[in-house]
Amino acid sequence: MDKKPVLKIRGLTKKYGDVVGVKDLDLDVYLGEIMGFLGPNGAGKTTTIRCCLDLLQKTDGEVKIFGLDSHENAIEIRKRTGYLPGDFGMYDDLKVKTILNYLLSQSGVSDKTKMHELSDRLELDIGRRYGNLSKGNKQKVGIVQAFMADQDLIIMDEPTSGLDPLMQKKCYELFREERDNGKTIFMSSHILAEVEEVCDRVAIIRNARLQVVEKIDSLKDKMGKKLEIEFENDVDPKLFTMEGVEDFNLDGRHATMIVTSNLDEVIKRISKQNVMNMSFETFSLDQLFMTYYTSGGKGR
Ligand SMILES: Nc1ncnc2c1ncn2[C@@H]1O[C@H](COP(=O)(O)OP(=O)(O)OP(=O)(O)O)[C@@H](O)[C@H]1O
Ligand SMILES: [Mg+2]
Repeated sequence: MDKKPVLKIRGLTKKYGDVVGVKDLDLDVYLGEIMGFLGPNGAGKTTTIRCCLDLLQKTDGEVKIFGLDSHENAIEIRKRTGYLPGDFGMYDDLKVKTILNYLLSQSGVSDKTKMHELSDRLELDIGRRYGNLSKGNKQKVGIVQAFMADQDLIIMDEPTSGLDPLMQKKCYELFREERDNGKTIFMSSHILAEVEEVCDRVAIIRNARLQVVEKIDSLKDKMGKKLEIEFENDVDPKLFTMEGVEDFNLDGRHATMIVTSNLDEVIKRISKQNVMNMSFETFSLDQLFMTYYTSGGKGR
């Protein structure tokens, strides 16, 4: 992957009076990647996104998009950025196609091919009035408008909320396809499985502060496995003092440990003892994400 940051955030801070929305956030989103943005309610995701697009005035810090200052060059940036706000809404009385045509013209694009392709793909009837659409269908309008102008960067705040699982899958395919065509995507989400399936990297924010930025694949590698063993006899606790074994705990003859590497050596050492019982649990990415939500994240 080209390591060119399309979105570069440095020391971003936003205060709403005494309330801190986001504090000292540094983040790079590189060309051609999908970056997921996770965190509990009120963590600061929407605040960060809105500051990036200059829809909200930041208190401190710097945001550059395409190398341009987000405030000084807000108009130029918006021309090259598709945006789906978390609270996407449109005039109820207008037909969807009127809305999409208008938004497309605002982006300076006259070719409607992609608009129609996306609507067909997401099974959106653009002849209907916006106000008569279901919640999920309204959300599809938001997704279509975010991608239809074929812009270089797409920023979305909880893009698939309200969509049924089949439609979510279709969106994941779309996002990946757009990424493969060179687009950069920055999206917040509450759906952990979505982030795991669609994103190349994830940034997790909690209490206005960034907790971690990692490749999804590296997170999976780091997760480790939990071993629980019941030995027949007492064992020397030092036996498992080794690289790759963490959180070793011995209670009588009952041992628990997290194995992050060196599994083969651990098994060999266990096999030299008499084992009464043993269980083996692989952490899911969900469990790992949750630790960052609740404890600031040890990674487990
Ligand atoms: N207009 C506002 N005035 C005062 N405080 C605000 C305002 N908007 C957001 N906040 C506060 O800023 C913090 C971050 O909110 P933000 O909406 O960015 O969180 P979020 O991560 O998007 O949450 P969610 O997952 O619920 O969408 C919260 O404490 C919130 O109450
Ligand atoms: Mg939000």
